[in-house]
Amino acid sequence: MERGWPHQEGWLLCLILSLLLQGNNNTFTINCSGFDVHGLNQTAFQSVFDRKAFRPFVNFSDPTRVNISFTLSAILEVNAQIQLLTSFIWLELFWDNPFISWNPEECGGITDLTIAADNLWLPDIFIIEFMDVDQTPSDLDAYVNSKGHIKYKKPMKVTSICSLDIFYFPFDQQNCTLTFSSFLYTVNDILLGLDKEVWEIADTSRHLMQTQGEWQLLGINKAAPKSAVGSTLYDKIMFYVTIRRRPRLYVINLLVPSGFLIAIDALSFFLPPESDHRAPFKMTLLLGYTVFLNMMNDLLPPSGTPLISVYFALCLSLMVVSLLEAIFLTYLLNLVTTQPPPMPHWLHSLLLCYLRVTACAKRSQRENGGPDPNPIHLPGLKEPEVKAGPAKAWLNGAPHSTWAQLEHQQKVDIWVKFSLVVDTLLFCIYLTFMTSSLITVIVLWIN
Ligand SMILES: *[C@@H]1O[C@H](CO)[C@@H](O)[C@H](O)[C@H]1NC(C)=O
Ligand SMILES: *[C@@H]1O[C@H](CO)[C@@H](O)[C@H](O)[C@H]1NC(C)=O
Ligand SMILES: *[C@@H]1O[C@H](CO)[C@@H](O)[C@H](O)[C@H]1NC(C)=O
Ligand SMILES: *[C@@H]1O[C@H](CO)[C@@H](O)[C@H](O)[C@H]1NC(C)=O
Repeated sequence: MERGWPHQEGWLLCLILSLLLQGNNNTFTINCSGFDVHGLNQTAFQSVFDRKAFRPFVNFSDPTRVNISFTLSAILEVNAQIQLLTSFIWLELFWDNPFISWNPEECGGITDLTIAADNLWLPDIFIIEFMDVDQTPSDLDAYVNSKGHIKYKKPMKVTSICSLDIFYFPFDQQNCTLTFSSFLYTVNDILLGLDKEVWEIADTSRHLMQTQGEWQLLGINKAAPKSAVGSTLYDKIMFYVTIRRRPRLYVINLLVPSGFLIAIDALSFFLPPESDHRAPFKMTLLLGYTVFLNMMNDLLPPSGTPLISVYFALCLSLMVVSLLEAIFLTYLLNLVTTQPPPMPHWLHSLLLCYLRVTACAKRSQRENGGPDPNPIHLPGLKEPEVKAGPAKAWLNGAPHSTWAQLEHQQKVDIWVKFSLVVDTLLFCIYLTFMTSSLITVIVLWIN
C-alpha cells in the first residue's frame, strides 16, 4: 500500500496532466469529421472566420510574430526627376493563428488548405517608402497548415521614394531603401522577423529578374532598427536594394560618337593652317556636334547635372576654342602676309632660338633613321611663300628695288614662321587641356 501510493498518485497525475494538455490542445481544434467525405465544410472554420476582426492571440501580452520575405522580380522604372523607383515584388508573410488547428489523421490526411484571405486576419505590413495607392488584388488566398501556420503571398507594384543620385550617369549605381513595417501595431502587438536569410532573398531575386532592361540588381542588404514614432515603438525591417545601370546604350550612343568628334577636332589641327579649309572644317564639326547633342538630349536624365553633361559642355567648348584658334591663325597669317609689321627684337631672338632647337631635334631624328628629304624648316614653310604670292605680285607691280623686295619677303617669312609656332603651341595647350580634363572625367566616373 505504502509502495503503491506514489505509483497510483503518479498515474493519476499523468492522467490529469494529459487530460489538461489535451484539453488545452483541443480548445481551438477544428472538428473536421467527414472532411474527406463531404468536402470541406465552412461551418467547421466558422469560429476562426468570426474572429478575423481581431489579431489572433490567446494571451494579449503575446505579440504576433510575422515573418517577412520578398522577391524582387522586376525593376520597372527609375525616375530621377521625381526620385521614384518602381519595382515589382512578391511579398510573403508568415504568421501563426492559434485558433486554427486540426488533426490531419482525423481529417483524411489533409495537412494544408487554402482559405480566401478575406476570411482571415491579415497583418497590415506595408512599405514605408511606398508613394502610391496599393493596387494589390484583394481576392487572394492564404495557405494554412494544420498547426495554424499561415502563409500569405501578394504581388505588389511598389513605387517607392528613393534618393537617386545621377551624377555618375550612365555609370551610376543607386541604393534604395525598402522598409517593411506595421502600419498600426506597435512592438507589443507585432514583431517582425525574416523568413529567409537576406542572401537567399537576393539570390532568388537575381535569378527571377528576367528583364534585361536598363537596371541590374546588384544586391540586397538588411538593417533592422527599431524606430520610435512619438512614444510608441514600431518594429521595422529595412532592406537596401542596390541597383546598377547597364551603361552600354549610353556608351554606344553618347560617349563613342562624342569621342570620335572630339578626336577629329584634335586631328584637324594637322590640316595646314595656311589652307582655307581648316576653319570651315571645324565649323562643320561644331555644327555636327550641336546637332548630335540635340538629338541625344532625350537620353540624358531630365533633371540634375550629371557628369556627362559637363563632359559634353567640355567637348563643345574645346571645339569652340579650336575654331577660334583657327580663325585667329587665319587672321594672323593674312595680316602678316599682306602688311607685316616689324617684329620686336626679343620676339625675333626667341623665335630664332626656338627654331634652332627644333631644327636640331629634327636633324638628330633624321640621323637616327627616318629619311626626311625636306630642308630643315618648319613644315608648311614653303606654302606660305606661295601664299605670299599676292604680296609678291603687289611688290612686283610697285617700283621698288629687288633688295626691298627681298627684305619684305624675309619679314613675311619670319612672321609666317611665328604663326606656325603659335599654332603648334596652341595645339599643345589644347591637347594638354583635353587629355587632362578627359582623364579627370574618366577618373571621376571610375570611382
Ligand atoms: C464533430 O462534429 C460531428 C458532427 O458534425 C459530431 O458528430 C462529432 O461528435 C463532433 N466531434 C467532436 C469531437 O466534437
Ligand atoms: C500572459 O502572458 C504573460 C507574460 O507572458 C503572463 O505574465 C500572464 O500571466 C499571461 N496571462 C495569462 C492569462 O495566461
Ligand atoms: C519566424 O522565424 C523565426 C526564426 O527564423 C522562427 O523561429 C519562427 O518560428 C518563425 N515564425 C513564423 C510565424 O514563421
Ligand atoms: C545604402 O545606403 C545606406 C545608408 O543610406 C548605407 O548604410 C548602406 O551601406 C548603403 N548600401 C550600399 C550597398 O551602398
